[in-house]
Amino acid sequence: MPEVDDCSVHLMLTSPPYPMVQMWDAQFCKMDEKIAQLWQKLSGTDDDDDEQIYTLMHENLAKTWQETFRVLVEGGIAAINIGDATRRLDNKFQLFPNHNRIIEICEKIGFTTLPYILWKKPTTKPHYKGKGAFLGSGFLPPNAYVTLDCEFILLFRKGDLRKFPCNDHMRYESKFTKTQRDEWFSQIWTLNGIRQKVSEFERRTAAYPDEIAERLIKMFSIKGDTILDPFLGSGTTMKTANNAQRNCIGYEIEEDLLTIIQKSINKNIKSPTIHIITR
Ligand SMILES: C[S@@+](CC[C@H](N)C(=O)[O-])C[C@H]1O[C@@H](n2cnc3c(N)ncnc32)[C@H](O)[C@@H]1O
Repeated sequence: MPEVDDCSVHLMLTSPPYPMVQMWDAQFCKMDEKIAQLWQKLSGTDDDDDEQIYTLMHENLAKTWQETFRVLVEGGIAAINIGDATRRLDNKFQLFPNHNRIIEICEKIGFTTLPYILWKKPTTKPHYKGKGAFLGSGFLPPNAYVTLDCEFILLFRKGDLRKFPCNDHMRYESKFTKTQRDEWFSQIWTLNGIRQKVSEFERRTAAYPDEIAERLIKMFSIKGDTILDPFLGSGTTMKTANNAQRNCIGYEIEEDLLTIIQKSINKNIKSPTIHIITR
């Protein structure tokens, strides 16, 4: 992210493409030719190929986490929404614990891991032998798997706590209420019902609900701060940052998405700086 200065961002909030989740395979192949080659080779001949693909996907995302460390201010927070993946490869069921890999990588980079949030999504159906819905045979033990119905919101800090002058008025203006504090700072967030309102376009980009972005922005930044989203998607972070009077910088690789984000932001500019960068 060469356009972004060192120590200039207060909060990085994003949801990257999820490693080993099929809808993002093509993007990882575009990011790294070696991933595309390994997928082609994966035909039951080499058992380690899927592990290599998974590792390469995370190594590519790690470049963004490394850059995030550079651009964050001392005490700045990185909030990463990620889900684990399950997949049958070579007729073998596997769990790919993405949240775990990202924690390991971010700690190596130098981040401090903070307690994370579990976003409990409206349930999809339980799985039987990793093959989708339980269907009729679903009440007999022991071959069913627990459904992945939580995503993670991983939280990291660069360096020590952020410091403020006493009586910093922007900080006081950004205060949350007691009810908000009690709800937001608990570990499980159940945001039922919100998904039903999501448009086809937002589903295609795997957008998170506005409520997730709004809570995180208000928990971990103050008015006037700069927020970065390196994987904008439909632009939920940017739109919400704008509404909460924060500046925002964002990247998105798909140009058709950029036009849509730009339109929705331009309709309602409140924030002094909204900066979208195409890769
Ligand atoms: C999970 S989606 C983000 C969804 C977003 N949080 C929202 O609410 O709409 C990930 C996005 O990252 C974008 N992306 C993938 N690779 C990228 C790259 N190398 N640079 C920038 N954006 C990328 C994808 O096109 C996709 O829109």
